Amino acid sequence: MKQFGLIGKTLSHSFSKKYFTEKFVQLVLKDHVFNLFEIPIIEDFPALWQSKEGLVGMNVTIPYKEQIIPFLDALDDSAQKVGAVNVIKITNNKKLIGYNSDYYGFKTSLEYEISNFKNDIHTALILGTGGASKAVLVALKDLNIDFKIVSREKSKADYTYEELFKCTILPHLIVNCSPLGTFPNIEECPNIPYHLLSEKNMLFDLVYNPAETLFMKNGKSYGAKTQNGLDMLHLQAEKAWEIWNE
Ligand SMILES: NC(=O)c1ccc[n+]([C@@H]2O[C@H](COP(=O)([O-])OP(=O)(O)OC[C@H]3O[C@@H](n4cnc5c(N)ncnc54)[C@H](OP(=O)(O)O)[C@@H]3O)[C@@H](O)[C@H]2O)c1
Repeated sequence: MKQFGLIGKTLSHSFSKKYFTEKFVQLVLKDHVFNLFEIPIIEDFPALWQSKEGLVGMNVTIPYKEQIIPFLDALDDSAQKVGAVNVIKITNNKKLIGYNSDYYGFKTSLEYEISNFKNDIHTALILGTGGASKAVLVALKDLNIDFKIVSREKSKADYTYEELFKCTILPHLIVNCSPLGTFPNIEECPNIPYHLLSEKNMLFDLVYNPAETLFMKNGKSYGAKTQNGLDMLHLQAEKAWEIWNE
């Protein structure tokens, strides 16, 4: 048996389990299983992975993408650059290698959107300072897009949300890396001056449920191009599959 799994604190609504279980059916991989491994504290991780028979790969989610790093044997370039891990491969000699496929998923999805956008994207705002925001930041650097970070706390970023309301113009691209607007809280959205947006702007929401968030709807109403996190989600999952099968 080949076992895969997702590590996190609360995993009731897992995309990965459904995605990979369907993949195993499609590919007729009858000896492959994907399980959810909820752990209350990261210190439970070593005993967990050592107890699972045939475990070859794991995804990592909130709140362990950074906390997992000291428990791994090595990091590949993507995880090293981002400073967070969302994919673990267990090698034949039981070494744990950490990767970051959120970086790949976001960068690939954004490159595609930019290639279909009629305006230039040279500047960006990143909303939120969590694990996903770190992957986005490195991808923007690699794409030579200048960015500023927005947080609820001044000490963590360039701007607070309140300070954005003193601006007269917004950067070309705005990336929502906060969970605001995720089902069931679909009436929430980041507090930014939407009225400054136009058809020259692109709003990228990492949230994928609902498919059109209030952040996107607000942007659209001022003519901005919008993109949700669904392509990114599929791209990062396919990258994880590729890593586990390398
Ligand atoms: N599409 C994909 O493939 C994909 C991949 C990864 C993540 N995601 C999504 O991206 C989002 C962020 O993920 P994450 O792992 O970075 O989560 P996280 O580590 O919990 O960080 C989220 C950040 O959002 C900000 N935030 C949290 N609650 C907020 C609130 N009530 N109001 C304003 N800001 C708030 C915080 O930044 P400040 O404290 O600095 O304000 C926080 O650090 C989630 O919705 C996740 O599902 C999508």
